[in-house]
Amino acid sequence: MRKTIIAGNWKMYKTIKEAIELANGLKRELFKLKELSVEVVLCPPFTALAEVSEVIGDSGIQLGAQDVYWEKEGAFTGEVSCSMLLDAGCKYVIVGHSERRQYFHETNETVNKKVKAALACGLLPIMCVGETLAEREKGLTFKVLDDHVQNGLKDIGADDVTSVVIAYEPVWAIGTGKTATKEQAEDAQKYIRDLLAKMYNRETADELRIQYGGSVKPENAFDLVAQPDIDGALVGGASLRADSFSEIIRKASEVVK
Ligand code: PGA
Repeated sequence: MRKTIIAGNWKMYKTIKEAIELANGLKRELFKLKELSVEVVLCPPFTALAEVSEVIGDSGIQLGAQDVYWEKEGAFTGEVSCSMLLDAGCKYVIVGHSERRQYFHETNETVNKKVKAALACGLLPIMCVGETLAEREKGLTFKVLDDHVQNGLKDIGADDVTSVVIAYEPVWAIGTGKTATKEQAEDAQKYIRDLLAKMYNRETADELRIQYGGSVKPENAFDLVAQPDIDGALVGGASLRADSFSEIIRKASEVVK
């Protein structure tokens, strides 16, 4: 049974003070749910990781970072290592987000290095994949998914790969308010799962969690998460407020029940 995972990617938003407020607000909202039937992950900016970790404490909410560098330590100005993230309280790390691919020269090769480094030190990577609008219109969606998934997971064995969460995020749906329909999302995510079955085996593919990301809101969360191959959501904009993010978590919990 795959546990549904709802992660909030705060991107480059929230000062430390604002991050603490948001994390506290969420904790209060989620406390009302009593038992969390879905896994909840908060991914604040690096500067707020340690403080958010302290706020969430043993509430069951997990912490994630938005990126990582693959080297253990050294003269790499501006970069943050896996062990530093673990030290700050992280369990997860987002890797290969489309904004990093678009603005910071992230490639499948660097994504692969980051996924491997994360797994080696015990961090669980959330690896983002997905096509742009131009690629979709040219009918290249599945080709892009082949490329992102196969190269991102290169040389990672079946035993390790089940620790990876894949986030299918069609680039045209990120921050645009244009959500993929539940059929479009399921179609792509089923494709990814079948691809994983070919790369590994069916059992492994059935164990791996695949999230959907791109304009997830309280209004569409239920329908998306209810799809057979959608095991949760990676939420940007709607994760920046305690009310909308907790509502998404509530909807996802309804599906699980
Ligand atoms: P969005 O972002 O929910 O604002 O579309 C999703 C993401 O970038 O992970």
